[in-house]
Amino acid sequence: MKYTFPKDFAWGTATSAHQIEGNNINSDWWEWEDSKKYFPQREFPLESSGIACDSYNRYEEDFDLCVDLNNNAVRISVEWARIEPTQGNFDEKEIAHYKKVLKSARSRGLKTFVTLHHFTNPIWFSNLGGWTNINAPIYFAKYAKKCAKEFNDLIDVYLTINEPQVYVYMSYFHGIWPPNKVSAVLSLWVQINLARANNKAYNAIKGNHFKKDDAPTVGIVKNIVWYEASNSSKNPLDKLVASFLYFIGGDFFFLMIRNKFDIIGLNYYFTNRINNLKTKNPDDVVNDLGWWIYPKGLYNVLLSLKKYNVEIYITENGLADEKDEKRIPFIRDMLESCAKAIDKGVNLKGYFHWSLLDNYEWHHGFWPCFGLVKVDRETLKRSKRPSFKYYSEICKTSELKL
Ligand code: FCB
Repeated sequence: MKYTFPKDFAWGTATSAHQIEGNNINSDWWEWEDSKKYFPQREFPLESSGIACDSYNRYEEDFDLCVDLNNNAVRISVEWARIEPTQGNFDEKEIAHYKKVLKSARSRGLKTFVTLHHFTNPIWFSNLGGWTNINAPIYFAKYAKKCAKEFNDLIDVYLTINEPQVYVYMSYFHGIWPPNKVSAVLSLWVQINLARANNKAYNAIKGNHFKKDDAPTVGIVKNIVWYEASNSSKNPLDKLVASFLYFIGGDFFFLMIRNKFDIIGLNYYFTNRINNLKTKNPDDVVNDLGWWIYPKGLYNVLLSLKKYNVEIYITENGLADEKDEKRIPFIRDMLESCAKAIDKGVNLKGYFHWSLLDNYEWHHGFWPCFGLVKVDRETLKRSKRPSFKYYSEICKTSELKL
């Protein structure tokens, strides 16, 4: 059996600046990684990002890999800490750098999906209280406006913020990421502030083009975990808890940004099953980080997003799998879920695999390998994993063989 995806479907991979560029020295993440030397007893990060994949310099080579993948689109991010290293001062050299990067993608026939905020902040911004500052959305919108003015139509789709609720969970609830806060009140406030930031940035990017045909397309990237009661659940409340958690992780945020997104970027990694009011996932198929692989969850999330009546792109989906043993069936099964969702009328327009390269997986350091391409940590040499070929065939033909 085979399924053919729509003609204009976007096929790509996704990365983010801090995770691949290297030497992101004006960011709060760099400062936090560096500060570990003063607190050796602190568990995270397991290592610093350092040179990462050196993609700041090797982006042409990376885009060549996208071409080898038969991709027609790519998702990257630009780094706020580079573009605005001190408050109100934009760095023309860095802006010129990113223009070169974007042109280089375009010249290879890649549509550009660009995230403006992917977890990292400039140090000056974090010194002002980061996302707890009531004016944070204003600062962010100024940066977004500058990006829109400078990059203009070199960017096909602007993505304001990556996974706002994951950021809040890790930085303000769980406290593992900088600024390492554990506070329910701040968690709620920062979510509200990030929603405000999205809304202001949306208006800023649209600018004078607002509601005109040539207005840029602006979206947000949401990680959405599917929740359901476990098969063996005996507690009638499990279903309720699952629906509640699903609402908090999705619709709750969309309510705060209504009308301020033209498209939805969906990041799907896993599903959580609730058993007797606790998360308890099967461990039949997990990735190297222990995340349960459940493609049906992606299908369920896609169907639930239909009600928003906007185009949907899967902006991230992938797995840590150093040995590349599970990546091929993973891609096949996830794309099957996509195909089924499209058949049910979901307006899914593209799929970006996370990730092109093995990269800096935040507090874990470099050990989780998400790349279709392996990166040697000594030489930074890129080599294609077997799944690279598999994905490249799908992208070439837009056909999924089942
Ligand atoms: C997502 C992040 C991305 C990467 C993947 C594995 O939550 O957006 O940067 O770390 O998880």
